[in-house]
Amino acid sequence: MEPILDSTIEVRSYLGPADERTLADDVLDGLTRPLKELPPKHLYDARGSELFDAICELPEYYQTRTERLILRTQAQTIVARTSAVELVELGSGSADKTRVLLDAMEAARTLRRYVPVDVSETTVHAVAERLVEEYPGMSVHGVVGDFERHLTHLPSPLGPRLFVFLGGTIGNFPPGSRRRFLRGLRKVMGPDDHLLLGTDLVKDPRIIEAAYDDSAGVTAQFNLNVLHVLNRELGANFDVDRFEHVAFFDRKREWIEMRLRATEQQHVRVEALDLDVEFAPREELRTEISAKFTPERLRSDLAAAGLELVELYTDPNKLFTVSLSRLG
Ligand SMILES: C[S@@+](CC[C@H](N)C(=O)[O-])C[C@H]1O[C@@H](n2cnc3c(N)ncnc32)[C@H](O)[C@@H]1O
Repeated sequence: MEPILDSTIEVRSYLGPADERTLADDVLDGLTRPLKELPPKHLYDARGSELFDAICELPEYYQTRTERLILRTQAQTIVARTSAVELVELGSGSADKTRVLLDAMEAARTLRRYVPVDVSETTVHAVAERLVEEYPGMSVHGVVGDFERHLTHLPSPLGPRLFVFLGGTIGNFPPGSRRRFLRGLRKVMGPDDHLLLGTDLVKDPRIIEAAYDDSAGVTAQFNLNVLHVLNRELGANFDVDRFEHVAFFDRKREWIEMRLRATEQQHVRVEALDLDVEFAPREELRTEISAKFTPERLRSDLAAAGLELVELYTDPNKLFTVSLSRLG
């Protein structure tokens, strides 16, 4: 198929007042539980997205460079195997590693469209503008939305699609929601489509914990930023300096948790919700889990969603894996 000649950008946002409600509902629900908790998507405002990009450059954060290495080694094979003309990326962020795949599609002369899907509006716009310049002839259809709720708004396919979900983001779902998410994704995939999924592997917990608690303190800033989001968006009065970043690997569940620990007793008011929240000294608020996988768990999660594993690409040190699957 020949690439289209006109480069075009279209960005549609599906986030609206209902999503402000989502934040409000998540906070009301999460801060009134016995173990206080917030979903990780609220970590990614514009500042949070910048901090995440900085994390990806840290020496301790092996995930990004390992996944990039795997993609560099395998991109040509993946593109040949899938014949994809379109790349749909969930949680696209700054789409840095995506270029490796787009380059391979361009070299194979199949590349027609890139569809980034992310909750961070500024990121989707910036990526759309940058990538149409870098790939003449490719169009971009950005979707500003929640990949748990807005996948039905993807544009109609132009041909075989490669869905990509990188960075180990799938690990942020607890196991039940992970399977529900994969089933939802399978429903929007067609028989010619493939899914390329990046997952972090179970390994020595010290390596994992260092990746989420770096010596420069960038991950701590990223984690604490969610309190600034609540202060700004919901008129809360968190004293950010009285919380500290915590990361630990839960060996039984094989996931890492990020939490924010109150350094002393405190009372927080969330004005928009008319909510008063008490934190006991050392009480913790969970802000993210990131599950680590074995190949067996990955295969069974995919199978439970009706997806068949085609290939597993892993680095020589078995730190990270990128799997290719299709409808089973
Ligand atoms: C861990 S980062 C990964 C970014 C990039 N894919 C990478 O591999 O470096 C997660 C990305 O998913 C986005 N995200 C998180 N939750 C989301 C949701 N529910 N819907 C859409 N995007 C989401 C964040 O804004 C962020 O860009």
